[in-house]
Amino acid sequence: MKEASIKTEKGFVVGEVDKRVFGSFIEHLGRAVYGGIYEPGNNNSDEDGYRKDVLDLVREIDVPIIRYPGGNFVSGFNWEDSVGPVENRPRRLELAWNVTETNEFGLHEFCKWAKQANSDVMMAVNLGTRGADAARNLVEYCNHPGNTYYSDLRRKNGAEAPFKIKTWCLGNEMDGPWQMGNKTAVEYGRLACETAKVMRMIDPSIELVACGSSGIGMPTFGAWEAEVLEHTYDHADYISLHQYYGNHDNDTPNFLARTLDMDKFISSVISTCDYVGAKKRSKKKINLSFDEWNVWYHSNGEPHTPWSEAPAQLEDIYNMEDALLVGSMLITLLRHADRVKIACLAQLVNVIAPIMSSPEGAWRQTIFYPYMHASKYGRGTVLQTLSESPKYDTKDYTDVPSLDTIAVDNGDGITVFAVNRGEEELLVKCEIGGYDKFEKITHTIMTDGDMKACNSLTEPDRIKPYTLPEKRIEGEDDLKIKIPPRSWNVIRFM
Ligand code: AHR
Repeated sequence: MKEASIKTEKGFVVGEVDKRVFGSFIEHLGRAVYGGIYEPGNNNSDEDGYRKDVLDLVREIDVPIIRYPGGNFVSGFNWEDSVGPVENRPRRLELAWNVTETNEFGLHEFCKWAKQANSDVMMAVNLGTRGADAARNLVEYCNHPGNTYYSDLRRKNGAEAPFKIKTWCLGNEMDGPWQMGNKTAVEYGRLACETAKVMRMIDPSIELVACGSSGIGMPTFGAWEAEVLEHTYDHADYISLHQYYGNHDNDTPNFLARTLDMDKFISSVISTCDYVGAKKRSKKKINLSFDEWNVWYHSNGEPHTPWSEAPAQLEDIYNMEDALLVGSMLITLLRHADRVKIACLAQLVNVIAPIMSSPEGAWRQTIFYPYMHASKYGRGTVLQTLSESPKYDTKDYTDVPSLDTIAVDNGDGITVFAVNRGEEELLVKCEIGGYDKFEKITHTIMTDGDMKACNSLTEPDRIKPYTLPEKRIEGEDDLKIKIPPRSWNVIRFM
């Protein structure tokens, strides 16, 4: 058996985990809202039309924050359409996804749903077809207590107490030519700066995310961040990153190495933030909001009837190897816990999502499990984690470590997350220094002989993790852990 090692030490801190790093995303897109979280008349729905089975699965993950309402959708969104009596809300042509938006489900419905899911709302404003005026009115509507036009409108519409939304996105993917109101970095930087100013005049406690690049592959990547931050450095708190990966060539070793690219993306954006900060002699640090990330390639642009209501769109069915990459992406985010403070798995239900639903029921996709494990056991302090393992080369990468791993001090124990990218079992020696002796280890594993295996409504548990019997630590040998080939692992020392 090939050997590997993991070493960490108490006090070797990378950073505190901001729980918002386990956030997700619900866009008015496909069946995420209609037929996903909301389906009045379904046997599984409550009196508000919320799907109880879907809500249970969202609660199982413990999603701390959910970005809403887009995505590309937000760049054509008139927020006023989504509030007030449902019968008065306009039906609109939704240009981002070529559908009709009924506005039956809107801001109040989402805030109420998010509360039931125990999640905060991360609200995006439209800087595509609209601007500072609509954004400031929305902050007044959501966060001002009362006695003004928009705050009283909210109260009239049934929400006496303000929604108190703390985290706001200044638009979405404004560098992308596909975006309604796509802008140059200067155009966007100026608009984001002026919008941020008026939003914060209304509520100084809010935190703001400026748009970074839509991916590391964008031709303007790097220059975009530098220019946008020139304008927004004093007004924004975070810059966004978006990235999706796919196994387009059916080259699994190469696919599982994609997080080397994600790691580089994060490091480059941190450097750019600090470069602009240094030029400005600023004491402030801009942190990162990786507010769209996932595997996305199984679906894209499947045909639907133009202007239909909530057709199935972007319904990726995830397999075992996708779950491994998602696990590795979570490890990568945790490795940068000092600067990545927000991250949103895109998305949450039906649309490139860990949770699927049909009128008959809801089920967990393969990627549900690493996401749920990280959210449950990844809170605390990330420790610098050194790892040695066999390496391999692929089409796009050299020296890819078979073992991708990170340790988190949870306060009452240590959790080690590990992905074995390789095709061989590893015997991993764990050395965790500086703590009183741990007494026991639990080891949860997810793997399968078929990397293309998936879950479905009829076979919801085809892929699921299993936990080995708890092991008492009697001697050194008990700290040598077998990690199966191509597996996701959660190892807890207590
Ligand atoms: O998450 C799906 C889409 O991907 C979002 O609407 C957009 O922001 C990104 O391009």
